[in-house]
Amino acid sequence: MMTQAGQEKRAGNPIVVSLNEVYAVRRSDGQWRSAEVIQTRGILDTVQYYVHYTGLNRRLDEWVTPDRIDNIKNGNHMINNDEQPERKLTRNQKRKHDEINHVQTSYAEMDPTTAALEREHEDFTKIKYCDSIVFGNYEIDTWYYSPYPEEYEKCKRLYICEFCLRYMKYARTYINHKAKCDQKMPAGKEIYRHKTVAVYEVDAKEHKIYCQNLCLLAKLFLDHKTLYFDIEPFIMYVLCEVDKDGAHMVGYFSKERVSPDNHNVACILTLPPYQRKGYGKFLIQFSYELSKRDCQVGTPEKPLSDLGKLSYRSYWSWVLLDLLKDLHGTVSIKELSNRTSITEDDIISTLQMLNIVKYWKGQHIICVTPKQVEEHLKSENYRKPLLTVQQDSLKWIQKNKRGRPSKKQKSND
Ligand code: ACO
Ligand code: ZN
Repeated sequence: MMTQAGQEKRAGNPIVVSLNEVYAVRRSDGQWRSAEVIQTRGILDTVQYYVHYTGLNRRLDEWVTPDRIDNIKNGNHMINNDEQPERKLTRNQKRKHDEINHVQTSYAEMDPTTAALEREHEDFTKIKYCDSIVFGNYEIDTWYYSPYPEEYEKCKRLYICEFCLRYMKYARTYINHKAKCDQKMPAGKEIYRHKTVAVYEVDAKEHKIYCQNLCLLAKLFLDHKTLYFDIEPFIMYVLCEVDKDGAHMVGYFSKERVSPDNHNVACILTLPPYQRKGYGKFLIQFSYELSKRDCQVGTPEKPLSDLGKLSYRSYWSWVLLDLLKDLHGTVSIKELSNRTSITEDDIISTLQMLNIVKYWKGQHIICVTPKQVEEHLKSENYRKPLLTVQQDSLKWIQKNKRGRPSKKQKSND
């Protein structure tokens, strides 16, 4: 059943906006796109509509004012839904194109179980009421729904202390809190410091509230991860930029203390103001350094988001091409895995993308000439990270092969 959600007058013509119907909606870049109206809300005496743009990642769902909505059937606007370039793409090119343009996989492309789970997830988390958060020196637009307690969930703007991560409804409470809060860095231990970049290890068992607040904050930018309350099995690694005012959180990743599936990252996030500056690949590299320390291979928990895939692909390609350029003679996938702590599956998928692996007599064989490696090193598949982990800036307990502490590298205090 369609529900009439509102009626707007524009140029003398009333537009009836109904829930679950598709309209032409103007995006902030001025382009018109088809979009479904999912919810409506009244702000003062105006109405707003929550819309999902056809075929785009749900991160781009937003509340819009009525002047940005028009009847699609009128044909008044050039609808720009076609993200696919005209020419025929190979499967690899299409995948890369879809990831870069944040094109969502349609239900039809999924197996029935995944499609059913995906539908259920969408129904549950469809609408995001919190538009932005005030966090340190930034006001950050949020991307997805996060299950803050009910009285906070529907605040248009939340105030979050950038150090202790406590969330507040009112600017006044926030200002008072900032004056009083004596925490100037994440909870936990500093385990890395190079110039202004620091990483803190926070055990969720010891710092439960901090870690819960961290997960709630992270969920505002993560679509799929649903870890908020049962967090004790996890350890958080919080990346900060340090200045005279304190250690300002830039991003983090979480990791299960013990993972039967070799997951070395559960969730990973760079806060939007810090994205695309190399912090994401720094965090990924850090997660593999932890796996190397434990003499284990590791892989991120699935599903990866569109941005997660781009970042991991870029990191894996860099690591593998960098190794291959200095290797002479043959090398096995297992050996690459031992050296990098990247799983054999992730290595194979990266080498397949780079087109330098063949399947022969039941095995994957690396098949590449020095010239091909050189070409890749010059291409966009190879980007040396802007920031890399400096081994001598790590302060942690070296574990032996059984994962037990064996020798102390540096003091932690
Ligand atoms: N559009 C296109 N490319 C992008 C974008 C974007 N919006 N953002 C990052 N990239 C590319 C970068 O160009 C870079 O590739 P390159 O070095 O080959 O050019 C690569 O992704 C990584 O860039 P970084 O600057 O190192 O990463 P960033 O700090 O932006 O963080 C991250 C990446 C963590 C995925 C970030 O986008 C994020 O927090 N997203 C929201 C949460 C999320 O999706 N997390 C991953 C979920 S999967 C999981 O948790 C296991
Ligand atoms: Zn605080």
